[in-house]
Amino acid sequence: GLPARVRIHEVGPRDGLQNESVTVPVEVKAEFIARLAAAGLRTVEAASFVHPKWVPQLADAEQLFPLLAPVAREYGDELRLPALVPNERGLDRALAHGVREVAVFGSATETFAQRNLNRSVAESLEMFAPVVRRATEAGLRVRGYLSMCFGDPWEGPVPVAKVVEVGRALLDLGCAELSLGDTIGTGTPGQVAALLREFAAQGTGPEVLAVHFHDTYGQALANTLTALQHGVTVVDSSAGGLGGCPYAKSATGNLATEDLVWMLDGLGIDTGVDLAALAATSAWMAGHLGRPSPSRAVRALTH
Ligand code: HMG
Ligand code: MG
Repeated sequence: GLPARVRIHEVGPRDGLQNESVTVPVEVKAEFIARLAAAGLRTVEAASFVHPKWVPQLADAEQLFPLLAPVAREYGDELRLPALVPNERGLDRALAHGVREVAVFGSATETFAQRNLNRSVAESLEMFAPVVRRATEAGLRVRGYLSMCFGDPWEGPVPVAKVVEVGRALLDLGCAELSLGDTIGTGTPGQVAALLREFAAQGTGPEVLAVHFHDTYGQALANTLTALQHGVTVVDSSAGGLGGCPYAKSATGNLATEDLVWMLDGLGIDTGVDLAALAATSAWMAGHLGRPSPSRAVRALTH
């Protein structure tokens, strides 16, 4: 059966904006996040404390968090504003700004681990270990991301056993949740079902898993529905389908939150999201980015 409720992990301000060619002013980012919260989203990934040269679009994390104080006060503990941190330097920066939830991000493939983190898979896990330990000790919630769970642009199809092995290693470090990323959007529902079955066979149930689909090949909603049918209840998406992927031609970014909410509304699955308010927010952001939202639902709701 399907769940009664899904928690949406909104990644537009982070995964979306990190891949847009236009760098958005920090005040606009803060307003974007406030509008997403007002539309009912309760987990909004806000920024990354990574090396500014690696992701210049998110180099203003230090400026952004103080601007989020009003929205953090308004919603209190109900609103989660996680940030990505790859290493202890990133964690120190996040702690200095009162961040209460962080995410480390590993890769199932060696090539992407090198390109994204300048480390092998094993070395990245070593880099994350003290981050997860110190963050947990400080009372923070830690999410683990795993990239390239289905296909890799350099290595091709990724073996299920490898994905499960690295994913379970991230959970073993102490991550409270593991988000399975289809970074380039090549995965299809049969692969999603096979991966979730293998996690379950190895003792990792859907209650600690989230799914993170990019919609490059138009598979994100079908993949999401498959994951829901296998017991997953946390879904990552980005408002308006923001973002792209530098490694895949004509990539269209993450699954659009509006497309997701339209499907979940239709299935009678509660998300707490006001779809009209969300679509209006994405249309407003599209104005700042100078291009229309690629989300079909946004276009249908705001044209
Ligand atoms: P490195 O060059 O190996 O770093 O990069 P290092 O440890 O050798 O340090 C070199 C210098 O960087 C030092 O400065 C450090 O202090 C500094 P120096 O002493 O030379 O002056 N430094 C930092 N500065 C600021 N903040 C930091 C930081 N760390 C070191 N946190 C590193 C290693 C991990 C830093 C780098 O590779 C990096 O920043 N990578 C981030 C890449 C990234 O953000 N990618 C996008 C997110 S992942 C994603 O989008 C996928 C996801 O959506 C899921 C999916 O779709 O699959 C999550
Ligand atoms: Mg992503």
